[in-house]
Amino acid sequence: MSLHLEAQIEDVAETVLLSGDPLRAKYVAENMLDDAKCYNKVRNMLGYTGFYKGKRVSVQGTGMGQPSLAIYAHELINEYHAKKLIRIGTCGALSSEIEIGDIIIAHGASTDSSMNKMTFQGLDFSAIANFELLRKAVEIAEKRKVAIKVGNVFSTDLFYVAEDPKRWQVWSDHQVLCAEMESSLLYTMAARHNVKALSILTVSDNIITGEAASSEEREKKFHQMTEIALQLI
Ligand code: HPA
Repeated sequence: MSLHLEAQIEDVAETVLLSGDPLRAKYVAENMLDDAKCYNKVRNMLGYTGFYKGKRVSVQGTGMGQPSLAIYAHELINEYHAKKLIRIGTCGALSSEIEIGDIIIAHGASTDSSMNKMTFQGLDFSAIANFELLRKAVEIAEKRKVAIKVGNVFSTDLFYVAEDPKRWQVWSDHQVLCAEMESSLLYTMAARHNVKALSILTVSDNIITGEAASSEEREKKFHQMTEIALQLI
């Protein structure tokens, strides 16, 4: 048991998929895993362990934003000995050429958060994906003929801000593909604890054009993204 998870140590697998939305964790457990059992209901931040093609895997809700993700990632790594953390999330595209439903793998994650700055005393840390997981995810997507984009993402602490149309410009000018709210700190924590992390994201909206996914589109692409994540275990 840890502060925010009521599981016993042996209830959690070495590989944990992380979903911001706990109900998505439930969906994965109930629809994509065999013999899944719920190990956490504290704060309704649902966590499950089951099997994918015979391999043991957990899927845990993290809530939105880096502070919330950091609590669950910390406890999973330090109390439950998780070794591979794979985020399955959504993002807002920062280019009109990126379409709703596209799958983006975060090669690196930039941020406006002060969390890394506190750790690195004001200096910049390059938060990057684990190369082995990244390479495998690309191979899996190619084999399954699922188109993906690999690049830098922007992990923001601010979903809503007073409207500033130029806010995204500097990021898109530097080829950052999308905005989301968790990957940068996940990568930093993985580095700190010498475990492996990868963020796989589905584009749920386009910040530049204002388009948003229908729930049907979201579901279909979510499935594809999660299958790539599950094949990594
Ligand atoms: N901004 C930040 N995070 C997000 C977005 C967004 O537009 N869409 C999905 N996650």
